[in-house]
Amino acid sequence: MGRLSAALFVVMTYASCAFAQSLPVPSHWTNQRGSDLLLYTVDGKGAFTGAFINRAPEFACDNLPYDVRGRVHGHHISFTVAWKNSFQDCKSHTSWSGSVTGNTMMTWWVETYVGNKGAVKKSRGSDTFRKQF
Ligand code: BTN
Repeated sequence: MGRLSAALFVVMTYASCAFAQSLPVPSHWTNQRGSDLLLYTVDGKGAFTGAFINRAPEFACDNLPYDVRGRVHGHHISFTVAWKNSFQDCKSHTSWSGSVTGNTMMTWWVETYVGNKGAVKKSRGSDTFRKQF
């Protein structure tokens, strides 16, 4: 590898890692509903994995972990949970979108529920997550 290619490689690797720097992993976040967001891995492109435990009593699929898939780019963050695991299928998914700054993540979410006859219901809200560790 020539010097120029090596320098480019270093710069590009640094740049892709910088996207993910606002999101520490592993980390544990909780929101104002008491739900837990656990972040496990983030790659050089900002794609991350984790688990979400819904603790909001007015919603279904609570108190069990569901997979999280998301992306962080600078301070912007988005992630999705499909509410289906080995034990329960709530026939719904939620997508959060917002910003992460230090120990605070402010998000808006949209939940999509698909009923048995294919009827789609959407609900919206906001969640603020605080980093626990
Ligand atoms: C469902 O009821 O269809 C699945 C659980 C949804 C929980 C929602 S997601 C947005 C909001 N934030 C939470 O922490 N819980 C609720």
